[in-house]
Amino acid sequence: MQITVETKNAIDVRAAMLVIPVLKLEGAKWRPSTRVAAIDRALDGQIAAVIASGDFRGKAGESLLLYPTTEFPAERVQLLGLGEEGKLSAESLRELAGRALDAAKGRRAANVAICAPRLHGLKLQEVTQALAEGLVLADYQFDTYRERDKEAPPPLKRATLLIDRPAELKAAREAARTGVILAESQNLCRQLSNEPANILPPVELANAAKRMAREVGLSARVMDVAELKKQKMGGILAVGGGSANTPRLIVLDHNPQTGRGKKGAKRPAGSARRLPTVCLVGKGITFDSGGVSIKPSAAMDEMKHDMSGAAAVIGAMRACALLKLPIRVVGVIAAAENMPSSTAYRPGDIVTTMSKKTVEILNTDAEGRVVLADGLHYANTKFQPEAIIDLATLTGACVVALGKWATGLFGNHEGLIEAVRAAGETTAERAWPMPLWEEHRKAVRSDVADIKNTTGRDGSSSTAAAFLANFVGSTPWVHLDIAGTAWGNNQSSYLKKGATGVGVRLLAALLQDWKQKKVV
Ligand code: BES
Ligand code: MN
Ligand code: ZN
Repeated sequence: MQITVETKNAIDVRAAMLVIPVLKLEGAKWRPSTRVAAIDRALDGQIAAVIASGDFRGKAGESLLLYPTTEFPAERVQLLGLGEEGKLSAESLRELAGRALDAAKGRRAANVAICAPRLHGLKLQEVTQALAEGLVLADYQFDTYRERDKEAPPPLKRATLLIDRPAELKAAREAARTGVILAESQNLCRQLSNEPANILPPVELANAAKRMAREVGLSARVMDVAELKKQKMGGILAVGGGSANTPRLIVLDHNPQTGRGKKGAKRPAGSARRLPTVCLVGKGITFDSGGVSIKPSAAMDEMKHDMSGAAAVIGAMRACALLKLPIRVVGVIAAAENMPSSTAYRPGDIVTTMSKKTVEILNTDAEGRVVLADGLHYANTKFQPEAIIDLATLTGACVVALGKWATGLFGNHEGLIEAVRAAGETTAERAWPMPLWEEHRKAVRSDVADIKNTTGRDGSSSTAAAFLANFVGSTPWVHLDIAGTAWGNNQSSYLKKGATGVGVRLLAALLQDWKQKKVV
């Protein structure tokens, strides 16, 4: 789908469908914008008539399709309710774009024009970015392994966002482009999460990361088992040891100072200061059977998405590169398959991690924290970042606590926690602060090793976070438990089935203007 922003007058635009967002009517009187009033005149008052009939009041989620009875360049006019103006946010426009796409596909329209509305409290740029995001996200389907349904509507070829402020055309176009980059990066994340474990074992996850890196000009490095052994990454090796699909550590580096971008723009030695570095660390369990502490078989298939944290890191790294963020961002992914076998790690084992801290394994199904122990320690010691964010489908307890409605947010730095929470607010990926207390840290101490990998059910999202805290030293760090938010059906009009790609837009929002925000 091609998305463009134009200043053309809606009454002159040829389109299979023209979408008009309509605010909820306050009282009886309909107050259309000048532009919509002109459309209504060109339609001989058709819009005013349906509104007068009371059949369409602009409530959020409401829709009504009109067929022009006059000479009108659009074949169909789709009214979509936006809801009350006071309650609108960028999310309302993403939602609306998702519904616009459904409406267009439902009528087999090959192209659609959408009037980008002027709204109080939202800049036009925010409107075009959100519409672009919603369209691209809604257009994604995991259909790689299905024959195309012959009855299915053809894909939408073109969407035109119509704005009525020519002076803002450049900014509106730039914002739509940003929206497309973010949504495509999120769709890449969703695709990787949706891929089954037979297609995407750790080595293929690494190949996908390398492919993406090549496409957008990032550097990528992948460590195989020999190298993991050299680095003494005992955590990743233990978890991955049960599978013939061997583990990998994947490193993606967005470093504007060494970028291939500016030819000959070598900085004089020693003159430029080191850019601030942020590390993103992802749990990349390509399949979580539970290992020897095997899971019940119900819904075990969904554990193909236990690498959603890793996928979010890959998606976010793509966005960092394409948006040319002026900071260094390093993505570190600990990828392994958790299987039961004669070479698998076992309950009772004591594992030495890269940090030299030892871990008593009490349950092999608490594997995410064991691979992250090495991923976090490597990120922290190798890159000395000023902040670390990790994402992991870490605990079922987090799903119980917050459901699909929020990501669990833990950390050791109030400013960073607040910045992540705020970023999630702007992208409608809610992250909710959860406790990480001294008591949780004490609970993970072991009698026979430095720490243990499970503590029992009570507060087990927090004790999992407390386990991770052992591997970041004193670096400001946030842990996002996305177990409940990375997967789900009917999340919104633009995220319908399977992997949601949660985290990609949140991370990009966090990293945009990182220096100016003075988070840490
Ligand atoms: N990958 C799971 C957590 C999970 C559950 C993610 C549901 C998405 C949906 C994780 O590895 C796990 O098995 N956690 C255990 C830990 C327990 C053994 C301490 C859990 O939460 O039950
Ligand atoms: Mn598990
Ligand atoms: Zn897991």
